[in-house]
Amino acid sequence: MNIRFEETKTLKEKPDKNALGFGKYYTDYMFMMDWYEDKGFTDPRIIPYGPIEFDPASLVLHYAQETFEGLKAYKTEEGKILLFRPDMNAKRFQKSNERLCMPVLPVEDFIQAIVELVKKEKDWIPDVAGTSLYIRPFMFAYQPKLGVHAANHYKFLIILSPVGSYYKEGLQPVKIYVEDELVRAVKGGTGFAKCGGNYASSILAQMKAEEMGYSQVLWLDGVEHKYVEEVGTMNAMFVIDGKIITAPLEGSVLPGVTRDSMIQLLKKKGYIVEERKLSIDELIQAAEEGRLTEAFGTGTAAVISPIGMLCYKGNVFFNNNTIGKISQMLYDTLTGIQTGKLEDPFGWTYEIK
Ligand code: COI
Repeated sequence: MNIRFEETKTLKEKPDKNALGFGKYYTDYMFMMDWYEDKGFTDPRIIPYGPIEFDPASLVLHYAQETFEGLKAYKTEEGKILLFRPDMNAKRFQKSNERLCMPVLPVEDFIQAIVELVKKEKDWIPDVAGTSLYIRPFMFAYQPKLGVHAANHYKFLIILSPVGSYYKEGLQPVKIYVEDELVRAVKGGTGFAKCGGNYASSILAQMKAEEMGYSQVLWLDGVEHKYVEEVGTMNAMFVIDGKIITAPLEGSVLPGVTRDSMIQLLKKKGYIVEERKLSIDELIQAAEEGRLTEAFGTGTAAVISPIGMLCYKGNVFFNNNTIGKISQMLYDTLTGIQTGKLEDPFGWTYEIK
């Protein structure tokens, strides 16, 4: 791709690196590219960050044809810039777009756009422990039309945001509400795709949980309301009898990059990982019998969010308010590799030169 560049007139002041929070600040530039039915992808450009004009009839505003990704850039102690497994995000973006009948962007274009934008904005990558530059690629249907159809015009954008931890608790254990009525996804739906609609439909359960004093929701499967699927915006893992159990990727669960990385790390360290159905009854029984020793969510934004407490049908289980040994090891190892502090035996890091 030949990416053109439009200079901004004013550069923003950088935020305090020690108080970033998540998704509150945006850099000076963004990447944009259009796709038309007759031309394909066209006019890749890096332009000043700013508002986009929408026709009120733009398809995305009505029928939510939108997909997105999330990954991070890190600055190492030696000043190198590292991405983490960007090819995984590129491929998942392709799968999401296929499901949503949207144009499929070649992996190398997805990565090139990120690399060139991050290079331009390298001064925005925070270097305090626990911080990074969050990269948000996304695509949406732009054509004005009220019929429910795939669009003939899409926009693909990338924006960047310097971030700290996603949840205010950081690495502290969170209280989780097991949602047994509302569902996130069903097989055959869009659960495996990273699309805005999945997140829109999760907000009600999240609000309900927060009103009751819980931080996040543990989702059960959409058919039997029996099997554990995801937690909040993350994949979920449970340590029972020393084995790590996580839901299998059968269509309703997001194939998380962090999930995949944790599984590989755990296996390399000699742990047994089972990708299998885990019923809420089996989980509660293990908690009651003291065999559930750790539980945590994994995701790009949050990395790891330990679960300190589970509430199911009004009863509270697993009140263990410390970060577990395995959770801490996974956090330290993964962030160590991502920030270049630890050797990367998997070849996961991608240096931007
Ligand atoms: C991520 O972990 O990158 C996500 O996309 C979750 C999110 C909705 C913030």
